[in-house]
Amino acid sequence: MNDQAEKLRKIVDYVNVPEQTKTANAARVITVTSGKGGVGKTNLTVNLAIALSKMGLRVVILDVDFGLANIDVLLGMSTKYTILDLIRGDRSIFDVLADGPDNVKFLSGGSGVEELLQLRTNQLGRFISNISLLDKLFDVILIDTGAGLSANVMSFIMAADEVILVTTPEPTAITDAYALIKLVSRKDRHRIIKVVVNKADSVQEANDVLSKLYMVSDRFLSFKLQKLGYLLYDDIVPKSVKQQRPFCLSYPKSQASKQVWDLAGNLLAENGRGYNEDAAKGVKGFFNRLFGAFSGN
Ligand SMILES: Nc1ncnc2c1ncn2[C@@H]1O[C@H](COP(=O)(O)OP(=O)(O)OP(=O)(O)O)[C@@H](O)[C@H]1O
Ligand SMILES: [Mg+2]
Repeated sequence: MNDQAEKLRKIVDYVNVPEQTKTANAARVITVTSGKGGVGKTNLTVNLAIALSKMGLRVVILDVDFGLANIDVLLGMSTKYTILDLIRGDRSIFDVLADGPDNVKFLSGGSGVEELLQLRTNQLGRFISNISLLDKLFDVILIDTGAGLSANVMSFIMAADEVILVTTPEPTAITDAYALIKLVSRKDRHRIIKVVVNKADSVQEANDVLSKLYMVSDRFLSFKLQKLGYLLYDDIVPKSVKQQRPFCLSYPKSQASKQVWDLAGNLLAENGRGYNEDAAKGVKGFFNRLFGAFSGN
């Protein structure tokens, strides 16, 4: 089967799944993270969101890389409100959702996780019921985090239904990715981690890294990773960053765009393989777990 046919098959497979196996009442909450910083999480999140949106899904990006307004910059947009306005009860969910390109919506995490921690019980209830509306409005929520291993990022990892772990072929990035897998697997042996290798020089190199991580995790942690795929090094990525326009839009025919499209296809094809929708309770479940984690429950 050639590439194009394979891609089409993946999309058709997805479209043909019975309605109830799609995320009917709960969005798919996916945290994008990494062990080491600067491996390409934000670029992947933005372009994956656009690809998924082009495939017909309703997608929102939640930026919780607190302090660094990364996604806004990549999208060349500024946001008026953040999730903090929602938490304080000043604004509704419809006010805080910003319009990104290609129907992708964007929700800024604001400046600090501390504010989330300080929520009083009555605020918390209101916040959860507000944010739970996202389950009705979206099929997929992509959460872009800062680089791994801090307590805050771990909370977002452990609260999500699925995790996309990004690494590059650099030994330091691989070691940090492995450290993160180790930490996550100790906390929950059934957490789903899908690995993406970014900035590889060749398909061979990317697959070697995927296999190596899969093997060491299986062997030393008895933890089975999922291989989501790869994105090769491509000059149009930094170029698009400078232009503040996602490469999937500026260079739709580029190698990087095709590979993001493949990753999106893999993500959709895997819906139902390893993804336990009964256990996943969408955005509501996510924030309940998140606050549970913060309050030490
Ligand atoms: N496939 C790629 N090819 C070439 N350059 C890339 C690729 N992916 C990302 N980059 C470059 O790597 C840099 C870091 O990317 P990005 O900001 O997406 O990483 P990050 O993991 O979100 O970083 P941080 O940990 O700081 O949030 C950017 O300058 C980007 O242009
Ligand atoms: Mg980032």
